[in-house]
Amino acid sequence: MASYLQIADDEKGHDLDLFCVPRHYESDLDKVIIPHGLIMDRTERLARDIIQDMGGHHIVALCVLKGGYKFFADLLDYIKVLNHNSDKSVPLTVDFIRVKSYCNDKSTNSVRVIGGDELSNLSGKDIVETGRTMQTLLSLLNECNPKMVKVVSLLVKRTPRSSGYRPDYIGFEVPDAFLVGYALDYNEYFRDLSHICILNDQAKEKYKV
Ligand code: IMP
Ligand code: MG
Repeated sequence: MASYLQIADDEKGHDLDLFCVPRHYESDLDKVIIPHGLIMDRTERLARDIIQDMGGHHIVALCVLKGGYKFFADLLDYIKVLNHNSDKSVPLTVDFIRVKSYCNDKSTNSVRVIGGDELSNLSGKDIVETGRTMQTLLSLLNECNPKMVKVVSLLVKRTPRSSGYRPDYIGFEVPDAFLVGYALDYNEYFRDLSHICILNDQAKEKYKV
């Protein structure tokens, strides 16, 4: 079982005015739940665990857009640092795929997949809620018989809606709330926020489509 940093259900978070948050989002957010620095520290450790486990295998890193782009870029930067500075290093190529399943703060019934021309050994993902998006993607990848597929997700949500699916590597396990920031969006907003925050109800109305 993958280890992770647990954010408790009663986690109070941090006041917004202790951090730098874009002015245009100040009234939309309640608390900072995971500050950017903590995301980076946890990601650094995930990179080390992944490199240790992958041995000398060539990694095709597949980024699940759009929500996974920040995590993917930062995770790969840490893997690159390890590759630069240790006796053992693994060749790395990248690919990108786009999936869309959400409207407002709810999952829709369709998971649309766009792009991706190479197959993955390792896929980088923003958040697993029910697990449906990842399971759809995995069955698609498996059709092409890759040697090995490992899933790295920055966040996994503790929710009764979960299908039971767990990624191979997990950054944080988070409460059942709608989170934004660090490329996670609400109707495309909040990707330009560095910290992971809880969206307030007023903002859900404001940015509703
Ligand atoms: P699943 O298919 O239910 O696991 O949902 C995963 C996808 O839903 C993620 O890739 C996100 O796009 C979206 N999602 C789920 N929870 C959140 C959230 O709290 N904030 C932003 N997006 C979310
Ligand atoms: Mg989204």
